[in-house]
Amino acid sequence: MSNTKLAILGGTPVNNKPVPPYNTIGADEKSAVLEVLDSGELSGFVAGPYDSFWGGKKVRELEEEFKKEYNVKYAIAVNSATSGLHCALHAMNIGSGDEVITTPITMSATASTILMTGAVPIFADIDEDTFCIDPESIEKNITPNTKGIAAVNIFGHPANLKRINEIAKKHNLFVLEDNAQAPHAKHYGKYTGTIGDAGVFSFNRHKTMQCGEGGVIITDNEEIAFKAACMRNHGEIAVEEMGKKDIVNTIGVNYRMTEMEAAVALVQFKKIKQLNKTRIDRANRITDGIKNIDGITAPYVDKDSTHSYYFYVMKYDEAKIGIPRDLFVEAVMKEGYYLRGGYVTPLYQHALYQQKICFGDKGFPFTANPRNNEISYEKGLCPVAERLHEKEFILTNIIYEPYTLEDMDNFIESIKKVIANKDELLSSKM
Ligand SMILES: Cc1ncc(COP(=O)(O)O)c(C=O)c1O
Repeated sequence: MSNTKLAILGGTPVNNKPVPPYNTIGADEKSAVLEVLDSGELSGFVAGPYDSFWGGKKVRELEEEFKKEYNVKYAIAVNSATSGLHCALHAMNIGSGDEVITTPITMSATASTILMTGAVPIFADIDEDTFCIDPESIEKNITPNTKGIAAVNIFGHPANLKRINEIAKKHNLFVLEDNAQAPHAKHYGKYTGTIGDAGVFSFNRHKTMQCGEGGVIITDNEEIAFKAACMRNHGEIAVEEMGKKDIVNTIGVNYRMTEMEAAVALVQFKKIKQLNKTRIDRANRITDGIKNIDGITAPYVDKDSTHSYYFYVMKYDEAKIGIPRDLFVEAVMKEGYYLRGGYVTPLYQHALYQQKICFGDKGFPFTANPRNNEISYEKGLCPVAERLHEKEFILTNIIYEPYTLEDMDNFIESIKKVIANKDELLSSKM
């Protein structure tokens, strides 16, 4: 197989089956939704000082399951992880003039929700191996305005949360875990999401468990839980009658989860271990298959952590392989398997940060920070993040359902085939 003509040069691809749709929804999810539809109560929320302020039956059941599984005191279901991050940051009293240190290698919502509170994100560089925020870089970025750290367990691997918590304690900072990509990963024996002051999960269509749109915030902190729940459901009109009139900063929105979403999420959450296991099995199969390829490094797994593989992210060494990364990626794609060079552009390179314009046209919330002129979003800010994104990351999502272990073998075969036919590939591009 390895020596046959490359698909990019007109040969037969290793895999020419159509890409199967990602679908983990089955009969149990269907009947759970039908039960809700039959009940006629599609949402249980009412905004006001009533019992229904806390949501419907399925929403509360989902919250109970999260509390039990993660052994935490509070769980608040919301309609997305973006909403969850916004509520959690708001509930941590983060606002205008504050700074929150985060990573540039993440989905944009991690940082945009910081802006939505009126604070500004300060980007720290990432760790060369885990691809998560680097604790040493966090320390270098702490200023008198720093109020918290938003650590992301990116691609399914925990950030160095033990060290991050130590730093946070020393400087009296909040730690928010964006755990959208890492449900059920572990760090020193503890589930991610439970290690910081609050953790946020996502159930959007790409996530390990899905319900359309949705998310959950977990925390042991009563004040964070109460304020986050208030923000979810127009809390400003309910706090006084709930006897919490001292809590004035509870501007609320509608981040409520519907009963249908909660019903699907409940079924999916029961399957979370199995959903994770199949990804881990497929990831391990690729790791084993590429271990002897000099120039491609399998995802690192820290000895005190487990990986839940949202994406399978490798490091590519162009000098060793001898093929420009993007050409290599294109050639493997043509063999029939998804591969991408880079992840997202480091967030500070987006126009929002380059121009420091977010709300209106006057520069809020950047202008509300007394250090605005010193805060840099220039290219070169996080050299490790930029190098990995521009030159070294190659990632695939073929560890998702319904790919098989045979697909993993064929993916490895595709990589080997491209490398074995390097000369033909390079000469075709001259
Ligand atoms: C790391 C990270 N944070 C936050 C989000 C936002 O999740 P949601 O789509 O549920 O708002 C995502 C979604 O892709 C994510 O990957």
